[in-house]
Amino acid sequence: MKKILVTGGLGYIGSHVVVELQNNNFDVLIIDDLSNSSLDVLDGIYRITGVKLTFERIDLKKKQSVVDFLSRHADIDGVIHFAASKAVGESVGNPLKYYENNIHSLVYLLQEVNKLSSKKLIFSSSCTVYGQASELPIAEEAPIKAPESPYGNTKKVGEQIIRDTCKISRSLNAITLRYFNPIGAHKSALIGELPVGTPQNLVPYVTQTGIGLREKLSIYGNDYPTPDGTCIRDYIHVVDLAKAHVIAMKRLLEEKNIDNYEVYNIGTGKGSSVLEVVNTFEEVSGVKLNYSFVERRVGDIISAYAKTTKANTILGWKSELTLKDGLQSAWEWEKRLVLNKIRHF
Ligand SMILES: NC(=O)c1ccc[n+]([C@@H]2O[C@H](COP(=O)([O-])OP(=O)(O)OC[C@H]3O[C@@H](n4cnc5c(N)ncnc54)[C@H](O)[C@@H]3O)[C@@H](O)[C@H]2O)c1
Repeated sequence: MKKILVTGGLGYIGSHVVVELQNNNFDVLIIDDLSNSSLDVLDGIYRITGVKLTFERIDLKKKQSVVDFLSRHADIDGVIHFAASKAVGESVGNPLKYYENNIHSLVYLLQEVNKLSSKKLIFSSSCTVYGQASELPIAEEAPIKAPESPYGNTKKVGEQIIRDTCKISRSLNAITLRYFNPIGAHKSALIGELPVGTPQNLVPYVTQTGIGLREKLSIYGNDYPTPDGTCIRDYIHVVDLAKAHVIAMKRLLEEKNIDNYEVYNIGTGKGSSVLEVVNTFEEVSGVKLNYSFVERRVGDIISAYAKTTKANTILGWKSELTLKDGLQSAWEWEKRLVLNKIRHF
């Protein structure tokens, strides 16, 4: 059994990846500092797969803890690195928190991965690195734009750090996955997204409004140059996204990668507007959503969706689940949170 370390494995995307890794017979170790997650997630994962894993509460900003952990687990075959702070707005108000957490942690981890006999790393990046691309769908070769926020900059710089390290360490093999907009939850509704405070992403805002936790959804702008005037994004189901990580990790472990640093877009290739999300949510939930149009928001990108040819043909991954599946599962998860009085932080 190959051993995979998942940092931030109790978070939204990490927990779904852990389930898919276990479904594929990987032995999983999780590091998480619980700064944006809770131990209940471990229980959710166990109830889905029934497979035990190793968990250690470790803060990756503490270099010595990273050194100690990886020297105790030098037989790890691969690392998937999710641990990071991700609130765009907070990063504008507190950039140093983001540079410390997202960059220091990555550097410490990379230094230790580079000492392992099996040096394989997958990094979570984001379509935010493209900004408003001049060509749609967005291909991996599209120019990287000046980031809109310190958070976005940590993804851009994080990618650069890994690329530079791969150049001088030829035995290090890394894949960066640039996610478009992850949504939804596991079909069991035992794990899902638990946003801190006011959700920054559309779908949790929609489900929280649907369940009555928020009074109204504000849609920022209905006069954009799109078919219905609202912004367009590429909503990728988190379970499809999770499967992409397993495929990427297998590619590294089976040494099928052509370059020792590769980048893939992970999206559906299809753009959906905010109004389409709202209408689809109403359809799957049977709930009429209270929403209104407000002024455009500064910095919002009009339209972003992925060109997925590289992921489809080279990585051999393709999204299977639809926007409807994503919203249906997000709604089941929201209902379970309320039913079980699981708090929204
Ligand atoms: N969710 C999205 O929309 C999205 C989009 C693109 C990229 N990403 C990236 O994907 C990754 C995972 O995102 P997510 O949505 O699952 O976020 P999340 O906040 O749910 O998960 C991150 C996890 O990392 C942990 N963590 C944070 N700092 C840590 C540290 N110093 N040491 C140990 N653990 C730490 C948190 O407790 C949390 O469990 C992040 O790197 C994020 O930037 C997310």
